[in-house]
Amino acid sequence: MKPIQVGLLGIGTVGGGVFNVLKRNQAEIMRRAGRGIALSMVADLDTARAQAIAGSQAQVVSDARAVIANPDIDIVVELIGGYGIARQLVTEAIEAGKHVVTANKALLAVHGTEIFAAAHRRGVMVGFEAAVAGGIPIIKALREGLTANRIEWIAGIINGTTNFILSEMRDKGLDFDVVLKEAQRLGYAEADPTFDIEGVDAAHKATIMCSIAFGIPVQFERAYVEGITRLAAQDIRYAEQLGYRIKLLGITKRVAKGIELRVHPSLVPAKRLIANVEGAMNAVVVQGDAVGTTLHYGKGAGSEPTASAVIADLVDITRLHTADAAHRVPHLAFQPDQMSDQPV
Ligand code: HSE
Repeated sequence: MKPIQVGLLGIGTVGGGVFNVLKRNQAEIMRRAGRGIALSMVADLDTARAQAIAGSQAQVVSDARAVIANPDIDIVVELIGGYGIARQLVTEAIEAGKHVVTANKALLAVHGTEIFAAAHRRGVMVGFEAAVAGGIPIIKALREGLTANRIEWIAGIINGTTNFILSEMRDKGLDFDVVLKEAQRLGYAEADPTFDIEGVDAAHKATIMCSIAFGIPVQFERAYVEGITRLAAQDIRYAEQLGYRIKLLGITKRVAKGIELRVHPSLVPAKRLIANVEGAMNAVVVQGDAVGTTLHYGKGAGSEPTASAVIADLVDITRLHTADAAHRVPHLAFQPDQMSDQPV
């Protein structure tokens, strides 16, 4: 069967990671998807840089609409970010009958309802595992592994930049500004770090989880959002003395009146696992009525962790386009794929 054809819109850090991981793990990914996945087209304004990352395997263009207009492209991966042009391109890709995979939490938190409705009408899929908590498969966990549960609440460290800042301020006694610059240098922070430090990025992600967990439309405008800019080093020290850590948590919770959705600095008892999540790592605690508490931990940002989530969506969509039913729900029809390896 011909590989499924993928077009990438925007090839920055994450796009480069998608190329690298797909190439490195090509054989395993193909066996698991039941079909090859070819990144055959890339649109980026910086075509020279895009060509350097994509090599000879992909056609590089500067016009994203050329990807959407190409009838051979089955899946469009949007890695541009923001609500502007990305919104138009995602909508156009859906209208053109393409499946879409996106890491764009801002877009989905604000315009997700219209995007999901358009995809439903057009009969295509929108994958967004990479939009929440980077490499942690939390969307899959909520929609698949925990699907039997009535979710009671979710609380997560879902912004690596602010967790890094709070950790460094606590451990090294460094000032907020110094640590923010370091987070930007390390590539954790958004292009506009205000979204990180004011809690907006975490609220985008919490909004998406809220919608998935409670089956309601995305409603970012109803989230309470407070960041970490008003925290001083002495707040962190006092919390420590009282046996707490300050964490920026995204919380969504079923209460008598409805659903809470909020992001704010929180005092977490130091003995809790989530209080010990340090640096740019993410962690999400989900409380379900049947399963109890589950903790999901991992890298919430970065090139290959985010690529890992993007490719998971590509594989899921590809599985639906294979001839073999066993690939469609792979955990129900497991076939070992590494015949040559043995436990040692
Ligand atoms: N700026 C985000 C963070 C990147 O710090 O977590 C991943 O969404």
